[in-house]
Amino acid sequence: MRISYSSVLPIFPILASSLVYAVNACKSNEDCSLNGVCDTHHKTCTCDPGWTAADCGKLDLKPATRGTGYNKTASGTSSWCNVIKHDPKDKSLWHLFVSEFQDGCGLDFWSPFSRIIRAESRHGPEGPYEFAAQVAPSFAHNPSVVWSPADKLYLIYGIGCHQNLPATCTPPEFTCGPGNFINGESGISLWSSPDLYTWTSHGQIFKGDNGGNWDADLTNPSPLPLYSSNDHTDTILLAYRGCPYNCSGSEQINLAEAPHFLGPYHKLEKNPIFPNPNEDPFIWRDKRGHYHMLSHSLEPLGGFGSGPNVGRHAYSKDIDGPWHFNNNTLAFSTLVDFTDGSSTNYYRRERPNLYFSEDGKMVPLFLGTGVQEVNSSMSYSLIQPVGSSGSGYKE
Ligand SMILES: *[C@@H]1O[C@H](CO)[C@@H](O)[C@H](O)[C@H]1NC(C)=O
Ligand SMILES: *[C@@H]1O[C@H](CO)[C@@H](O)[C@H](O)[C@H]1NC(C)=O
Ligand SMILES: *[C@@H]1O[C@H](CO)[C@@H](O)[C@H](O)[C@H]1NC(C)=O
Ligand SMILES: *[C@@H]1O[C@H](CO)[C@@H](O)[C@H](O)[C@H]1NC(C)=O
Repeated sequence: MRISYSSVLPIFPILASSLVYAVNACKSNEDCSLNGVCDTHHKTCTCDPGWTAADCGKLDLKPATRGTGYNKTASGTSSWCNVIKHDPKDKSLWHLFVSEFQDGCGLDFWSPFSRIIRAESRHGPEGPYEFAAQVAPSFAHNPSVVWSPADKLYLIYGIGCHQNLPATCTPPEFTCGPGNFINGESGISLWSSPDLYTWTSHGQIFKGDNGGNWDADLTNPSPLPLYSSNDHTDTILLAYRGCPYNCSGSEQINLAEAPHFLGPYHKLEKNPIFPNPNEDPFIWRDKRGHYHMLSHSLEPLGGFGSGPNVGRHAYSKDIDGPWHFNNNTLAFSTLVDFTDGSSTNYYRRERPNLYFSEDGKMVPLFLGTGVQEVNSSMSYSLIQPVGSSGSGYKE
């Protein structure tokens, strides 16, 4: 029998009661996942918009609309890793940066068939989006897009290196640099653009290694420029997923930092910032200056098609930690409700990415994820509204 997340707690009554006590009786804002404020008199959390649950660790997801996002599976094309950007000049235009797999190859052949593309929507951030241009040819994957105020440039952090594609959907062994000789996933590459349209490649800016480090293989970049109105720094914080050489062991999360986007990048910690196996980190800083991450959990009832527990949240007051990994409240699951009254329990749901309000309050409005349906080899980019601001989004 498959144990659902909600039925786990009653099986461990002692653990459950201590968790419930810890959650229900907050003592500090950290007990509210730094996504809300602890009322110390009533010992309860008041969550920020977009967050819910007793510890504010759950995204307040609203029904998604079928036909939005970037879903080209009907015409035989799979995609993954979606990031929404509002055009800086044309206010009715949104861009979506996506990994799209060429030649009709499904999710199993992301390496080497993935390329990075830009799609456009004039229907708001939820889409639907239509293909507009190729940003980087195969093999290019994992785009994570940020605006760097210090450089006045958009930056795409991703992975990959040019490959000639096989004639059929097969995953050849190749490398893009140290850390992995099987599928070219190791090492972080960078592209920059003044306007989201024209992109300059800067090659690999943060390499893996062939040594014995737990994170010799590094991928899944998520950058955060640390520039703020009172600190005009060029420094970039970079969350990434590491695993041993050839990814022969546990996948975990770490942070690196560079004085400039071109590097040099140095790892902030020798060990993973929390013990739980996770990949696909997405990092941001909230309106109070605290740090947050969403990730794809690789726990036994999560992982790649093994269950609903796919989305986790972690938070830290400071860059140097300590990071708190929330293994109590699930940030999001594989189950998605739609506005037509239907729901889909996805086989895989990964690559979380949030689109925030543009007023500096960092209210999450939309959650982007890569999804794969049960019994399907294909994948697509799902965009789901968050909170009343996301579901009632007006330009
Ligand atoms: C994506 O497209 C498929 C058709 O290939 C369709 O069955 C599915 O409902 C679509 N999903 C969403 C969320 O639009
Ligand atoms: C990594 O994979 C390559 C290609 O399969 C293999 O030649 C090499 O021995 C592997 N190295 C380790 C340390 O597993
Ligand atoms: C949650 O994580 C903490 C700290 O790593 C650990 O002590 C605890 O056993 C975990 N609880 C569950 C339910 O996994
Ligand atoms: C998936 O395929 C299996 C085997 O054909 C079938 O029993 C099951 O009902 C299918 N599930 C869905 C959700 O389509």
